[in-house]
Amino acid sequence: MLSAKQPIGIFDSGIGGLTVANAVLKVLPDESIIYFGDTAHLPYGDKSPDTIARYAQVITDFLLSQQCKLIIIACNSASSVAYDKVREQAIAKGVEVVNVIDPVVACIADRGYRSVGVIGTRATIGSGVFPQKIAALDRQMEVASLATPLLAPMIESGFVKGDISRLVIENYLDDPKLEGIEALILACTHYPLIKAEIENHYAIKGLSVDILATNEIVAEYVKSLLKSLSLIHEGTPQPHQFYVSDYTESFEQTTRLFYKQAVHLEQSAIFSGENAY
Ligand code: DGL
Repeated sequence: MLSAKQPIGIFDSGIGGLTVANAVLKVLPDESIIYFGDTAHLPYGDKSPDTIARYAQVITDFLLSQQCKLIIIACNSASSVAYDKVREQAIAKGVEVVNVIDPVVACIADRGYRSVGVIGTRATIGSGVFPQKIAALDRQMEVASLATPLLAPMIESGFVKGDISRLVIENYLDDPKLEGIEALILACTHYPLIKAEIENHYAIKGLSVDILATNEIVAEYVKSLLKSLSLIHEGTPQPHQFYVSDYTESFEQTTRLFYKQAVHLEQSAIFSGENAY
């Protein structure tokens, strides 16, 4: 039997998923989280579905062993290709899994757009998961998908404002594929950090495009899910824990960018021994 006191497990290929952790804690401030960033294996965005799923399953085992009451796959690439396997694994222990795709698809269905764009890593876009799930809504909604692989490393290296990021953003968003969209889904952990720049890009062109930051949509969904399961914690939370599979000082410093404050990262050994690959 799960209890509200248990932590929420959140994982990502690295520290970008802290944008999701941050949004979740904003709407659920009494929760405690166990975060896992697979920094030894990032980026997931350029890896094969099988490899991403293997990593995701090892991390899920770890989060289940830490008695998490809910698991959030904060990474869009892992949500795209590993959700079914992770869910099967967690549900066997009575634990629900939230990915960062289904709540967003439900949100755009509610808003009734006719044409949406999706940008993300090669893994996310290559999986075709957004067009498939949107087609399943049967709403005659058109979907234009574009892989934007330069954005995540650009943001992680601190190029968020300024000429370099502006040119890269412009180059991607001016792609003819995205012409005429009414909304753009930012399907990557890192992209909320350039939401304002993307909005600005369309504003300058006089175009009205809703920019959907998936971390905020997912956080609201997590709140409603925990409520429906009577698992919302109230009162002082346990201290959060942040693990990575490969610790470096530079990752620790970059947490500030994604989490709005610096956090201490613990080195985890879950990928040593029989899980080493
Ligand atoms: N976290 C990944 C995602 O949201 C971006 C970084 C990576 O490629 O690992 O798809």
